[in-house]
Order: sequence, then C-alpha cells, then structure tokens
Amino acid sequence: VTDRSDAARLDEVSPLGHTRERFVVPEGVVYLDGNSLGALPVRVAERLGQVVAEEWGEGLIRSWNALPSGAGRWMELSRRVAARIAPLVGADADDVHVGDSTSVSLFKTMVAAARLRPDRRVLVVEPSTFPTDGYVASGVADLLGLELRWCDPADPLAAVDDDVALLSLTHVDFRTGAMYDLPAVTAGAQARRALVQWDLCHSAGAVPVDLAASGADLAVGCTYKYLNGGPGSPAFTWVSPRLQAEARQPITGWMGHASPFAMARDYEPAAGIRHWASGTPPVLALSALDCALEVFADLTMAQVRQASLSLTDLFIRLLDERLPDLDIVTPREHERRGSQVSFRHAQAYGVVQALIARGVIGDFRQIGDDDSSSSGIARFGFAPLYVRHVDVYDAVEHLEAVLAGEEYADPAYSTRNAVT
Ligand SMILES: Cc1ncc(COP(=O)(O)O)c(C=O)c1O
Repeated sequence: VTDRSDAARLDEVSPLGHTRERFVVPEGVVYLDGNSLGALPVRVAERLGQVVAEEWGEGLIRSWNALPSGAGRWMELSRRVAARIAPLVGADADDVHVGDSTSVSLFKTMVAAARLRPDRRVLVVEPSTFPTDGYVASGVADLLGLELRWCDPADPLAAVDDDVALLSLTHVDFRTGAMYDLPAVTAGAQARRALVQWDLCHSAGAVPVDLAASGADLAVGCTYKYLNGGPGSPAFTWVSPRLQAEARQPITGWMGHASPFAMARDYEPAAGIRHWASGTPPVLALSALDCALEVFADLTMAQVRQASLSLTDLFIRLLDERLPDLDIVTPREHERRGSQVSFRHAQAYGVVQALIARGVIGDFRQIGDDDSSSSGIARFGFAPLYVRHVDVYDAVEHLEAVLAGEEYADPAYSTRNAVT
C-alpha cells in the first residue's frame, strides 16, 4: 500500500466491505476507539424510541408478559440477548447470562470459583490486567480470607500450584493488545486442578473464541466495546455446563430464584444459568444491545478476524515504513494479537489528543502509577465492521503530521481529561 487508492482496493475485497453502512460514523471522523466504546448501529435509535414509547409508554407493566407488538416480552429479553452473544464466543445460549456490569460478573464468578475449590486458598491474577479484575479479586480474597497472588503475565501458569482455586486472566490485554493462547493456558491450569476464568472484554466481537471447545470454566465480557451495545451496556457471563449444577453465585437475588413471583421466604436457585440473574433486568439497555447485535447476524467470526488482521497488519506495516522509530508494543504474530495496535511514547497523551483534534479518535492508557506523566500508551482499536483500510491510511498520515510538527507538545494537552 503506497497510496490511499491501494487502501481503497483492500476495502473492496474485504469480507466486511458492506457492514460499515450498518453504523453511524460521524463525517470527518476516523474512529479507532471501538475497543473502548463501539459505534452506534443505525437501527438502535429507532428501536430504543419504540421501546420507550410503545413498550414502556403504552404497554406499561404488561410488557413484562407480552409486548404491544406481540413480539416477545421483557422477561425473555436477557435470554434473547444471550442467544445472540453465544455464537460469537463459541457458547451455547443456555450457558450465557446477560445483565450485570463486568465488575459485578467478575465478583459472582470469582466467589463461585472459590467455593468450587474449598480446599484451595489462592486466586491468581496478572498484575497488568484491567484494574477492575485485580480490584474485584482483591475484594473477593478479603471477603473469603483467601490469598491474592500476582502472576508473571508472560508465564501465568508458573504461579499455578496445588493451592490455586482460580486463574483469572484477560484474554486480550487492554494496553498492548497481546492475546493469550486460551485453550493452551486453560489446559495447563486445569492440569493442576485450578479453575480458569477468561475476561473477554477485548475479544468478544473482535477475535474468535471457542469457550465450549476450549474446555474453559468461566468467562465474562462487556458488550459496549466490539459488540456495540452502548455506554454501560450489560455484561455477559458464561459458566461451563460442567459446573452449573454445582456452581453458586453469591448475589442471590429474586430474579435468580426458581420461582421469583412465588415470593417465597427462602432462596431456591433457579435451574441452570437462570440462577446467575440477581435483580430486575435493565430493559432499556438490553433492548439497545439486542438491536445492536443484529449487525453480527449474517457474519462469521472468521470473517471478522480476517478483516481485523488485515487492518492491524496494514497499520503496523505503514508505521514500520513511515515511522520506524515508534515503539510498537503489540505483538506482530497473528496468533498473539487482538484487534488493537498500541505504541509507547513519552508524550503519548499529547499524541492522542492532537490526533483527536484532527478527527482521528484513539485513546491513552497509563503505565505505572505516575498519573502526572503523559508517558504511556497510545491505543488504536480496529473494529472491523466499520473501520476501513482507508481509515488506517488516513490515521497514519495524521500521525506522521502530529509527530513531525510536534503537535503533541501543545500546552492545552498538559492537563488530562477525566477519561483519557
Ligand atoms: C478487560 C476489561 N475488564 C473489565 C472492564 C470494565 O468493567 P465494567 O464493565 O465493570 O466497567 C474493562 C473496561 O474497559 C476491560 O477492558
């Protein structure tokens, strides 16, 4: 690719060349932050309007049992959404619960895992994981009197001994985009009788994952990144069918009761994955997510992966050619790369802000504890359903200009925004 028309030709042959029209992408914006907040699918605004006006406004409480349109009922919504997510992560719909935040889902799965291994005292987490995973693990360890052990991200299995109840890892690292070999790590930890949990926030909808075939135990993932469910949309939890009869989640609310409207005094868990529900499902958020997931209905994850690798390959190749001094921290091997590319820079915060000022939206993530420093990682996510090869080309052109003109040094970027 030596000029923009070469990039345009790659878009013509991409298996996802036709899916960008399913999204609202503002004019003049190159959106490389779908790994943080996915773009708005075109049909969601109308659907939400209808849910509010008809299902809530007209149907009122009746919509829990039957919608005014006759198409379904609110009580089924979270099962419907689970059925849309399941094939994207290699799961059966009956093994997926949707409805809490990722953090709450992590709490539920970590407590359940610890209870499944009562003879073991250790939870293993890697130190560079997304902070909420470590924070929740530390809260669970505190609550249950367990030890939290940090592993070497390069060799997590070295920390797994006979005292480990759970190894909890993020499949694709949120800073570097590095991806673990999920089946191999799962098998390695299970050989030591530890349970394995995967955080799929940066995987679901971007890279193929086959939870059932990998034999994993537990997984959680958010839906507001590559699944485009909207800000704060509910997370999903997967529990291996091997464990469901035995596994007990700790937030024993009425929606996970075998018979919520029996209003019984004592808790009796619902059968199967329904036990993982706790409170009233977030109907508006689930409705938006249900509609957003329609964009995947006719796609395979193999197509998504092919398009994603083509985009990240092009970005890396253009950076290598034009900005060879950049410190790219994302693995170059396909099998170790998620759907993002990141580089370190002494002024990474300013670089990202200067790009945003030019309409190229990525983001900045800190490394270490010095939050006064603008050094860190500039991160670019390639959501293959709406990012094109020409966007990659344009982003690199802008990046060259930002670096050549030292636009990152603008004093306006010396104070960080709350969300970076
Ligand atoms: C790997 C990972 N886990 C968890 C979260 C966030 O958790 P929650 O959905 O509870 O905000 C993120 C958010 O970016 C993430 O990247």
